[in-house]
Amino acid sequence: MPAWLKDAVFYEIYPQSFKDTNNDGIGDINGIIEKLDYVKELGCNALWINPIYDSPFKDGGYDVRDYKKVAPRYGTNEDLYRLFGEAHKKGIHVLLDLVPGHTSEEHPWFLESKKAERNEYSDRYVWTNCWFYGINGHPYVGGEADRDGTYMLNFFKCQPALNYGFLNKTQDWQLSPDDPACIATREAMKDVMRFWLDHGCDGFRVDMADSLVKDDDENKSATGKIWKNIREMLDKEYPEAAIVSEWCNPQQALKSGFHADFYLDHQGNGYNTLLRDYETPGGDHSFLKKDGNGDIMRFLLDYLPKYDATREDGYISFITCNHDTPRARRTLELDELKLAWALFLTLPGVPFIYYGDEIGMRYFELPTKEGGYTRTGTRTPMQWTNGKNKGFSEASSDMLYLPVDESEDAPTVENQAQDSSSLYNTVKALTALRHKYADLQADGSFEVIYAEKEQFPFVYRRGNLLIAINPSGNKANATLSDKAFVKEKDSSGSHCAFNEVYSIGGCQISGNSLTINPQAFAVFELK
Ligand code: NOJ
Repeated sequence: MPAWLKDAVFYEIYPQSFKDTNNDGIGDINGIIEKLDYVKELGCNALWINPIYDSPFKDGGYDVRDYKKVAPRYGTNEDLYRLFGEAHKKGIHVLLDLVPGHTSEEHPWFLESKKAERNEYSDRYVWTNCWFYGINGHPYVGGEADRDGTYMLNFFKCQPALNYGFLNKTQDWQLSPDDPACIATREAMKDVMRFWLDHGCDGFRVDMADSLVKDDDENKSATGKIWKNIREMLDKEYPEAAIVSEWCNPQQALKSGFHADFYLDHQGNGYNTLLRDYETPGGDHSFLKKDGNGDIMRFLLDYLPKYDATREDGYISFITCNHDTPRARRTLELDELKLAWALFLTLPGVPFIYYGDEIGMRYFELPTKEGGYTRTGTRTPMQWTNGKNKGFSEASSDMLYLPVDESEDAPTVENQAQDSSSLYNTVKALTALRHKYADLQADGSFEVIYAEKEQFPFVYRRGNLLIAINPSGNKANATLSDKAFVKEKDSSGSHCAFNEVYSIGGCQISGNSLTINPQAFAVFELK
């Protein structure tokens, strides 16, 4: 486990929309370099940058045409190497996005693979052996190649599936995961990883990490075997490199070698019930919504078994949002977001802040861009200043990658930096708290102290810190059990007093009774 992950707070950058320095209306690597001090001041010490590789951009760059080349619209490979160096000088680690399950249909491997004559890349992708045969249970394309066969898709039509084999072969054309051609695919992906790691990258967020072996068993054990093999390579050659999976199944992902796994927004799962419960029939009962009448038990019943089963193996990553998910501001106000980010920044695991969530950027209904569809509204330009294009770009507004939020009350860094009680300054205070107290970091212990069905507050311990959160609009009380008052690893079991170290809104502890104001959050240290 790379030691730096313990105190890591990530910042996710969608490069298209972060900062444009050459005035072409689209973000670039030099823009990211320019804003490294901003990232650092916010208290983030690690970046995840969405795909920055050469691509036809039919899926925002998740359709990679060349894994080893920076897309010209973002700059050059040298710019990216410089970004690694500048980030490291500031103590910031950088993860790139690895897309191992598919390439663009324009990738040279695929152009070779679709040829009628057999060649080195014929089996790099999943093909049937006859133009007329489809692929049971999987999307496929026919009629596009000279080759006699149809090919499997991993996501959009532009993304043919790389071939890591089938666990249970039912057709002649299917290869087993240990076929030399499938091993060659895995080794090609290692080669891509080594290329960027050798140039200074610190690891990868891995796209659709569970999608490699087709018709895998319910534990995804064949896909897991590939990741274990890749993790062995990392441990041996790049022990400080981190891999974070888009899997959303920590029991599978962390046991397969990932250091952290995202807790993604899947309707009805624990994470979803905290802040994006609006698609559940019966209304939005998000726990973090002031008038949601939420229920913390919906979260805990999903999260705790996952946490308990994996805390020795790696980390679960809470995200404020990502480039695929509606921004939480869609339904939550700025004061609600303060509590939401307070919760995520004080839970175990490695947290990720999506650019702009630190100021509460809005979600928009926008026409699709580069395969974004409903995700497009989460990908609008970062709002830096109150000036032209909110400081994102000097280009004319019709040239921008996506429109900026031009509303009068659009949140900006410029405005919020001046207001000590802003969401931005709240996030800064919370990240500072997390860096200060090792107990709050990724591997600090976590224990539920008070959580009752449909009741507020929620009270939990992180090591010798006691944390209370009350997102509701009413004052709330909790009777604290004895375990709240005993210092961690103190065998005497004697009761300690609490000292408040951070508060939003106000909270008191008197005897064993905790009283917390409406929409409040507090952290106490056991003294
Ligand atoms: C997940 C990525 O986050 C998403 O943006 C992309 O469209 C798909 N994987 C396909 O790569």
